[in-house]
Amino acid sequence: MKFFVDTAEFDAIAELNELGIVDGVTTNPSLIMKSGRDIIEVTKQIADLIDGPVSAEVIATQADAMIEEGRKLSKIADNIAIKLPLTWDGLKACKALSSEGHMINVTLCFSANQALLAAKAGAAFISPFIGRLDDINLDGIDVIADIRQIYDTYGFETQILAASIRNVNHVTDCARIGADIVTAPPEVIHKLALHPLTDKGLETFLKDWEKTGQKIL
Ligand code: G3P
Repeated sequence: MKFFVDTAEFDAIAELNELGIVDGVTTNPSLIMKSGRDIIEVTKQIADLIDGPVSAEVIATQADAMIEEGRKLSKIADNIAIKLPLTWDGLKACKALSSEGHMINVTLCFSANQALLAAKAGAAFISPFIGRLDDINLDGIDVIADIRQIYDTYGFETQILAASIRNVNHVTDCARIGADIVTAPPEVIHKLALHPLTDKGLETFLKDWEKTGQKIL
C-alpha cells in the first residue's frame, strides 16, 4: 500500500520524505487555506521535492472552467494530479482532461456508485472520504471494501486513494481491504510507529544492558 501525505505544510512533508515513506501528496482548498500560502507556489515546492503524484484541486464548479483550471494546475510540474470533485461537471472535466493525458484524482467521493462513474470517466485515482462518512454514522471502510470489489470485478485500473483518514485503525483497515493508497495527515502517519509495549520493551533492554557494564562502541 502506498502512503500519500495529506497536507500543504511543506516542512511536515519534507520530514516524512526523509524516511522514504512518502509516495505522494494530496492537498485541497482547505489545506491550502491552512498553509497560508499561494496554491501555485506551495504546490510547485512540494512537486519539486516529491517524485510521486501531487494533487492540486480546482476551484471552478462548471466543467469548462474546471478544464481550464486543471490545464493550468498541470503546468506546475509533470507529477501534478488534478483534483476534481465528484459532480457531473467534475466527471465531464475528468473525461476531457484524462483524454488529454492528464492524471486525475476524483475527490469528495462517498459511495461505490460515485467511484464506479469516476473509473468510467478515466480517473487515475478515486478519493473516498472515510472519516466524513464515519462522522454521520455510516461506515467509510465498508465503502472502500465495496469499491475494491467492484473495481476488481471489472478490472478498473483507477487506484483507490483512501482519504479523510482520521486514525491509525483507518490505515490498518484500508491495508486489510486492499486500498491502493492512503492519504493521511502527518500526525496520523507518525502515530503508525507508536506502541506502548515497544517503549516498555526498549526501556527494559536498556536497563538490563546497563547492568552488563558493556559498551558496543
Ligand atoms: O484529502 C481529504 C482530507 O483532507 C479531508 O479530511 O479530516 O477534513 O475529512 P477531513
